[in-house]
Amino acid sequence: MQTFLKFLRGFTEGVVLLGLLFGTLGAQEKPNTCLECHSMLEGSLQIPPQKWNADIHKTKGLGCADCHGGDPTQMDDQKAMNRAKGFVGAPQGAALVQMCGKCHSDAAFMKKYNPSLRVDQVSEYFTSVHGKRLKTGDQNVATCISCHGVHEIRPVSDPRARVYPTNVADTCGACHSNDKLMAPYKIKTHQKEEYQLSVHYEALMKKGDLSAPTCNSCHGNHGAAPPGVGSVTNVCGQCHSVFADLFNKSPHKAAFNQMGLPACVYCHGNHGIKHPEDTLLGVDDKTLCSQCHTSGDPGFQQAQTMRQAIDQLKNSIASSEAVLSEAEHKGMEVSQPVYDLIEARQDLTKARTQVHAFNAASLQVFVQAGLNITHRATEKGHQALAEYQFRRKGLAISLVVILIVIVGLYFKIRQVDRRSNGE
Ligand code: HEC
Ligand code: HEC
Ligand code: HEC
Ligand code: HEC
Ligand code: HEC
Ligand code: HEC
Ligand code: HEC
Ligand code: HEC
Ligand code: HEC
Repeated sequence: MQTFLKFLRGFTEGVVLLGLLFGTLGAQEKPNTCLECHSMLEGSLQIPPQKWNADIHKTKGLGCADCHGGDPTQMDDQKAMNRAKGFVGAPQGAALVQMCGKCHSDAAFMKKYNPSLRVDQVSEYFTSVHGKRLKTGDQNVATCISCHGVHEIRPVSDPRARVYPTNVADTCGACHSNDKLMAPYKIKTHQKEEYQLSVHYEALMKKGDLSAPTCNSCHGNHGAAPPGVGSVTNVCGQCHSVFADLFNKSPHKAAFNQMGLPACVYCHGNHGIKHPEDTLLGVDDKTLCSQCHTSGDPGFQQAQTMRQAIDQLKNSIASSEAVLSEAEHKGMEVSQPVYDLIEARQDLTKARTQVHAFNAASLQVFVQAGLNITHRATEKGHQALAEYQFRRKGLAISLVVILIVIVGLYFKIRQVDRRSNGE
C-alpha cells in the first residue's frame, strides 16, 4: 500500500506538472489534488470524482476541500488530508448538516453567489421531525444528502435534481416506502403508493402541471412535518384559496376545530385525493354529510337542498345540451345558445365550490344563475326545432303541390295526344 501510494503520488505529480506545462490546469482552475489523486483510486473513493462534473458546487468554482477541508495543493496524502488543516473526512449525521451549513447558513458568503437564495435550510431542518430525531442520534432520518444527493448536487431547477417536483415522490419514497426502515417508528409506508393514485399526481406527471403538489408542497422542504389539524386548511389553501376562504367563514370551521378534525383532509383524504363525485354531497347513506348529520338537524336539511340544487342544474344543462344538439344535427343555427351554456357550466362549477360555504342559500344563487341560462337555451333549442318542423311541413306541402302539377300535366299531355291522334 505504502509503495503503491508513493508511486501514485509520483505519477500524479507528473500529471499535474504536465498540466501546468500545457497551461490546461492551474491556469483556469484552482489546484485540486483531491480530485486528481481520487480519480485514480478504486471503489467508493473514486466515485466522487466520477460524479463531480454534474455538481453545482463545481460549476460555481468550489472544490473538494471547500466541503471536506484539508489542503488541495498537496500531492502527499498525509499533508492533503491533514486534520490540522481542517480535514473532516466523510462526515455523517449532525456533522454532515453542519458541513453544509458552514456556507448555506452564512448569508454574507451565499450573497456573493446568489443573493436570492435562502439561508435558513439548516435552522429549518432542525425544527423538522427529521432534524429533531437526528439530534437524538437517530441516523435513519433524512439529512441534507438523502434528499439532494452528494457529489452530484444539482440546482433545484434542474429536472434531473432529486428535489425537482417530478422526482420528489421517489426521493421521499426511498425511505418512506421502506417497511423495514419505518417499522420502529410505527408510521405507515403507503404515502407514495396512495399519492400515485391521486388527481395531484395525475396533474403533475401526466399533464405536466408543475403547480400540482408533491410531498414537499404539503410537508415543506426542510421543515418536513405532517400538517397538524389546524394547519391543513392553510396547506391546501396555498393553492385552493377560494375553497379555504369559504370553509373558514363556514359553520364547519368552528365545528371541525372543536372535534379536532383536519378540515379538507377529513372529507378529501390527504395522499390519495380523487376527483370528488357529486355523490359525496347529500343525505344518502354513502354521502359524507350523513356521517354526521341526521334527519331533522339543520345541516341535514341543507345538505339535501344543496344536493337537489346541484342535481337540478346538472340535469337542466344536460337537457339543454340534448335539445340543442338535436337542432344542430338538423342543420339549425343554434351557436349562440350553445355558447351561452359555457357560462351555465361555469355556474355549476361555482356552485360545487360554494358547497364549502356550507350554506344552501348562497349555493342556490349560483344554481339560479345557471338555470336562467339553461332555461333560455332550452327554449331557443325548442324554437329551432319548431322552425325545423315548420320548414319540413312547408317542404312537404310544396312537394305535394309539385306532384299534383306533374300528374295534372301528365294527364293533360295524354289528353292532348289522344285528341290529336283522333283527328
Ligand atoms: C495522493 C492521494 C490522495 C490525495 C491527494 C487526497 N486523498 Fe483523500 N484519500 C486517499 C486515500 C488512499 C484514501 C483512503 C485511505 C484513507 O482514508 O486514508 C482517502 C480517503 C479520503 C476520504 C474518506 C475518509 C474517511 O474518513 O472515510 C475523503 C473524504 C477524502 N479522502 C477526501 C480528500 C480530500 C478532500 C482531499 C484534498 C484536500 C484528498 N482526499 C486528497 C488518497 C488521497
Ligand atoms: C458539497 C460538499 C462536498 C463536496 C464539494 C465534496 N464532497 Fe465528498 N463528501 C461529502 C459528504 C457529505 C460525504 C459523506 C457522504 C456519505 O457518507 O455518503 C462525502 C464523502 C466523500 C468520500 C467518502 C466516500 C466513501 O463512500 O467512502 C470521499 C472519498 C469524498 N467525499 C471525496 C470527495 C472529493 C474527491 C471531492 C471533490 C471531487 C468531494 N468529495 C467533494 C461532501 C462533499
Ligand atoms: C427531506 C428532504 C430534504 C432535506 C433533508 C433537505 N432538503 Fe434542501 N430541499 C429539498 C427540496 C424538496 C427542495 C426544493 C424546493 C423547491 O422546489 O423550491 C430543497 C431546496 C434546497 C435549496 C435551494 C434553496 C431553497 O431553500 O429552496 C438548498 C440550498 C438546500 N435545499 C440545501 C439543503 C441543506 C443544506 C440541507 C441540510 C440542512 C437540506 N437542503 C436538507 C429537500 C430537502
Ligand atoms: C463551501 C461552501 C458550500 C458548502 C460547504 C456547501 N455548499 Fe451548497 N452551494 C454553495 C454555493 C456557493 C452554491 C451556489 C448557489 C447559487 O449560485 O445558486 C450552492 C448550491 C447548492 C444547491 C443548489 C441551490 C440552487 O440554486 O438550486 C444545493 C441543493 C446545495 N448547494 C446543497 C448543499 C449540500 C447538501 C451541502 C452539504 C453536503 C452543501 N450544499 C455544502 C456553497 C456550499
Ligand atoms: C433517509 C430516509 C428518509 C428520507 C429520504 C425522508 N424521510 Fe421522512 N422520515 C424518515 C424517518 C426515519 C422518519 C421517522 C421519524 C419519526 O417519526 O420519529 C421520518 C419522518 C417523517 C415525517 C413525520 C412523520 C410522523 O408522523 O411523525 C414526515 C412528515 C416526513 N418524514 C416527510 C418526508 C418527506 C416529505 C420527505 C421527502 C421530501 C422525506 N420525509 C424524506 C426518513 C426519511
Ligand atoms: C396534498 C398534500 C399532501 C401531499 C402531496 C403529501 N402529503 Fe403526506 N400528509 C399530508 C397531510 C395533511 C398529513 C397529515 C395526516 C392527516 O392528518 O391526515 C400527511 C401525513 C404524512 C405522514 C405521516 C404518516 C401518515 O401517513 O399519516 C407521512 C410520513 C407523509 N405524509 C409522507 C408523505 C410523502 C412521502 C409524500 C409524497 C409521496 C406525501 N406525504 C405527500 C398531506 C400531503
Ligand atoms: C401546490 C398546490 C396544491 C396544493 C398544496 C393542493 N392542491 Fe389540490 N390541486 C392542485 C392542482 C394543480 C389540481 C389539479 C387540477 C386539475 O388539473 O384538475 C388539484 C386538484 C385537487 C382536487 C380535484 C379537483 C377536481 O376538479 O377534480 C381536489 C379535491 C384537491 N385538489 C384537494 C386538495 C386538498 C384537500 C389539498 C390539501 C390536503 C390540496 N388539494 C392541496 C393544486 C394543489
Ligand atoms: C364536509 C366535507 C368537506 C370539507 C371539509 C371540504 N370539502 Fe371539498 N368538497 C366536498 C364535497 C361534497 C365536494 C363535491 C361537491 C360536488 O361536486 O357536488 C367537494 C369538492 C371539492 C373540490 C372540487 C370542486 C369541483 O369543481 O369539482 C375541491 C378542489 C375541494 N373540494 C377542495 C377542498 C378544500 C381545499 C377544502 C379545505 C379548505 C375542502 N375541500 C373541504 C366536501 C368537503
Ligand atoms: C365530521 C362531521 C361533519 C360532516 C362530515 C359534515 N358536517 Fe356539517 N356540521 C357538523 C357540525 C358539528 C355542525 C355544527 C352543528 C350543527 O349545526 O349541526 C355542522 C353544521 C353544518 C351546517 C350549518 C347548519 C346550520 O346550523 O345552519 C351545514 C349547512 C352543514 N353542516 C352542511 C354539511 C354538508 C352539506 C355536509 C356534507 C358535504 C356536512 N355538513 C358534513 C359536522 C359535520
